[in-house]
Amino acid sequence: MRIAVPAETDANEARVAATPETVKKYAGLGAEVVVQAGAGKGSGVTDADFEKAGAQIAPDAPATVAGADVVLTVRRPTPESLAGVNPGAAVLAIMDPYGQNEAVLALAHAHVQAFAMELMPRITRAQVMDVLSSQANLAGYRAVIDAIAEYGRAIPMMMTAAGTVPAAKIFIMGVGVAGLQAIATARRLGGVVTATDVRPATKEQVESLGAKFLAVEDEEFKQAQTAGGYAKEMSKEYQAKQAALTASHIAKQDIVITTALIPGRPAPRLITADMVASMRPGSVIVDLAVERGGNCELSKPGKVVVTKNHVKIVGHLNVAGRLAATASQLYAKNLFAFLETMIDKESKALKIDGEDELVKATRLTFGGAVVHPAFVAS
Ligand code: NAI
Repeated sequence: MRIAVPAETDANEARVAATPETVKKYAGLGAEVVVQAGAGKGSGVTDADFEKAGAQIAPDAPATVAGADVVLTVRRPTPESLAGVNPGAAVLAIMDPYGQNEAVLALAHAHVQAFAMELMPRITRAQVMDVLSSQANLAGYRAVIDAIAEYGRAIPMMMTAAGTVPAAKIFIMGVGVAGLQAIATARRLGGVVTATDVRPATKEQVESLGAKFLAVEDEEFKQAQTAGGYAKEMSKEYQAKQAALTASHIAKQDIVITTALIPGRPAPRLITADMVASMRPGSVIVDLAVERGGNCELSKPGKVVVTKNHVKIVGHLNVAGRLAATASQLYAKNLFAFLETMIDKESKALKIDGEDELVKATRLTFGGAVVHPAFVAS
């Protein structure tokens, strides 16, 4: 069985889908791994590191994927870049399939089995394969670091001979995987941390991390969590109450980090231009939801906006990718854990069980057709 790891084609993508550690593990399962020259560069992994782990290095993408049974990438590859793979090859990536029906269909026509890692069910068995969690956790950490880099003051309280420096007030909006890590990081750095979410289960999690919880805790709040553990889109009335509660709080914050998302919907708008205008000069907002429309009215994808009252609004893209080496290490492990379940130990060949719930949840294309119910053209 041949596993190909081509270099990422997006210039802004520094992550890589395999590491020397996972190459060794694949070799242990009897697979042959081919890595494109330079694929690990952005993550600090040299070709020599990959070779030492047992990989072959191919000079370019076509030579890498030629004859492959499995292709591992970070982002969705183009069908053209998969020319030469074996028919039915498994392609594992963060496929970003929503609103991309044509691209998904093109993968079907390329006769590969495309697996969208972000559709992995959030069940105990699949925790080790959960790319949303592994990457969101790093994004939450990095958001705090990015905020501090833009902030012109110290975070912890300092009592010095020259005077006392107050601790920075840091507010985290949205307490999922990224938000929890942001709270923990901000606390470790000495910030005074508060947090909000619409799911009641988060209150205890926030408090257990030593931060203060702030939310409109009405009847709607008690029902805000879906069976899948995600947030529902809240009513206009709730949103108005939430805005009233958070507006006066935001005015007193030094740093606000927003991470709020609702699956399949645009990100909820939590910070209006008026709220930004109420903040002190030098304050910083980091909007982790910027790629999904943004939690802050003024954030711009890929930009650091500086407002008239000197509030900086950070809208970096691919925040996990800003910690490429760590992000690759965890992502590559997520891929290994899933692919391992699809390799037959005896024959050392790919053996995909179409009845497996993980395969059903993530497989977009099979046998030349789109098979995932969410993406089959209507
Ligand atoms: P997410 O990325 O979809 O959303 C981030 C957060 O934004 C969520 O906590 C959500 O409640 C919050 N949010 C949405 N609308 C909001 C609003 N108007 N105001 C404030 N906050 C708002 O969430 P993520 O990080 O993917 O986590 C979702 C759930 O999945 C959590 O309960 C998490 O603990 C759970 N989970 C379970 C795993 C498992 O294997 N069992 C693995 C990972 C996460």
